[in-house]
Amino acid sequence: MTEVKTQEGVLPTKELYHPNIGSYQQAYKESIEKPEEFWSKQAQVLDWHRRWDKVLDESDAPFYKWFVNGKINASYNAVDRHVLRNKRNKAAYIWVAENGDEKIITYDGLYRRVNNFAKALLELGIKKGDRIIIYLPMILEAPVAMLAAARIGAVFSFVFAGFGAGALAERINDSKATMVITADGAFRNGKVVKLKSIVDEAIEQTSTVRTVVVVERTKIDVQMEEGRDIWWHIVTRDSHAYVEPEWMDSNDPLYILYTSGTTGKPKGAVHGNGGYSVWIANTLKWAFDPEDDDRWWCAADIGWVTGHSYIVFAPLFLGLTSIMYEGAITFPAPDRMWEIIDRYRVNILYTSPTAIRTLMRYGEKYPKMHDLSSLKVLGTVGEPINPAAWKWYYENIGKSNCPIIDTYWQTETGGFMISPSLSLGLPPLKPGSATFPMPGIDPVILDDKGNEVPNEEKGFIAYKRPWPGMFLTLNNDPERFKKTYFEKYKGMYYCGDYAIRDKDGYYWLLGRADEVLNVAGHRLGTIEIEDALIASREVAESAVFGKPDPVKGEVIVAFVVLKEEFEHDRDIVTNLRKRIREDLGPIYVPEEIHLVKLLPKTRSGKIMRRVVKAVALKQLPGDISTLENSVSVDEIKAAIESFRKEAGD
Ligand code: WT7
Repeated sequence: MTEVKTQEGVLPTKELYHPNIGSYQQAYKESIEKPEEFWSKQAQVLDWHRRWDKVLDESDAPFYKWFVNGKINASYNAVDRHVLRNKRNKAAYIWVAENGDEKIITYDGLYRRVNNFAKALLELGIKKGDRIIIYLPMILEAPVAMLAAARIGAVFSFVFAGFGAGALAERINDSKATMVITADGAFRNGKVVKLKSIVDEAIEQTSTVRTVVVVERTKIDVQMEEGRDIWWHIVTRDSHAYVEPEWMDSNDPLYILYTSGTTGKPKGAVHGNGGYSVWIANTLKWAFDPEDDDRWWCAADIGWVTGHSYIVFAPLFLGLTSIMYEGAITFPAPDRMWEIIDRYRVNILYTSPTAIRTLMRYGEKYPKMHDLSSLKVLGTVGEPINPAAWKWYYENIGKSNCPIIDTYWQTETGGFMISPSLSLGLPPLKPGSATFPMPGIDPVILDDKGNEVPNEEKGFIAYKRPWPGMFLTLNNDPERFKKTYFEKYKGMYYCGDYAIRDKDGYYWLLGRADEVLNVAGHRLGTIEIEDALIASREVAESAVFGKPDPVKGEVIVAFVVLKEEFEHDRDIVTNLRKRIREDLGPIYVPEEIHLVKLLPKTRSGKIMRRVVKAVALKQLPGDISTLENSVSVDEIKAAIESFRKEAGD
């Protein structure tokens, strides 16, 4: 037995995972000192149609170009090459329905389905560069649609099926999508979510959509609009299709994925073909070291970047077998995840701290009902993991045999940025720290003015050099791309998170430094929620903030001022909840909505959100000068006084 050291003592692990940090350090050093050579080598994890001329072109920074003039196709790398070599009969996905049904699809089966649907896309008039929206639940058609789009060079934008009609319409409009791919409905917690009718409602607020392809999943009644809507099983009737992959430039867009920012308008992060693919294939190998015969389960939703990179593209590039689960993790009972691990002898589980804390609340009885001995490695993502949840996961799920790979990254970064590297050399783990940067990642922790802060001090994390997986730009908004990410610190990528580096060089991620919430590992913008509230006829003003929550990390709290003509009553609150659910989606619904008569404001009329939060969470007194930028302490004091009574303080 060797050992993995944690802050909470020394934990024994299997012989397989001896901390061997030395080889990680060597790989890391090479990546920083000889990036050209290093990335030329790493890029060979994929098949290129044409080799690149240059690894990195920085002439138009921050619009960095990786693998310049290289030609590649993501669907070729995900399916064709495995079918051509020796993985034709290997399972690509073991899909588990919410009702427990299973479907196993081989690489050959996936290859055929991707070709069929690629042909259908072409026949429906979709060409290279066209934008299409995918609004699907966790069914096999989701990866098929993504890969088929990638095959013909159409740029897809996947919209998480938990988003509402308003959020979907906004993404259709921003991407100017001409097609939406959806399903009649989705199964969730034993109920049916009517996806197609949400699509119908969204399209009314848009003008570009010509075609809607509908997968029959639940068999509920749907309206099919003549000339616009068509069934998936009708357009994929030709089961012998072959579509030549479109050889994409390395820096052509592969997909757009919207994420929240500090304004009401979501940002469309555009990821490319070459650099992104190289990055995610390598980071998956480095962090988790999956072996050919392993079963990999990334228990995220495909609609988030975690699903794009680590359910769809990276595991398929590496020819792995993935578990894909359709439903809720507590349905029909809180042992669902453990039951799936037992049934399929899953080897690597990658999930979120919120999922762990949710299942932890139900107690050890549920994991004890199942044999979890197949597990070798555990992972987490989405938010900082608290040491208590880490320990529970390590002991009750990993049976003190599995290292925990805490991967820190973002939609914009494409793949893991800071994470232990199992295949390069696992460091002693400290519960709550994502440990060290991936090769090629050069982080720095800075104060507001751009000075590096000493170890053990909190600052903003930034990155001193580009990496292959970084997004190319923001859709329709290159200026916002430059301003949001590359202006705060010259020549560096600023990501909006606080972090600390400890005396041993470990990185501890401490959450968002901006007006963005992290609810259950999902990034939500406070302003988006305020905008939706203000759009209601009763609402005059609102202030939204995040309140710490033991399970979800943060929950949403809203303070709302009604227009004069409206009386305060509970029906209004119920209606506001309902409207946010329908417009933005269930995850945006505030846990608390407080009706108040006034909100604290500056003389110029700006709502002091941080004051609202500090008063409501009883965080005062503290250093109130930090509550609002460029507002005098007296003004803040007055604002606090005026608001205290309102918040019931
Ligand atoms: C934000 C990114 C990355 C896929 C899921 C979320 C937070 C993410 C960790 C982690 C501490 C984390 C950060 C980041 N975050 N992973 N392991 N430890 N914080 O993607 O919606 O783009 O959100 O999630 O605050 O900026 P996202």
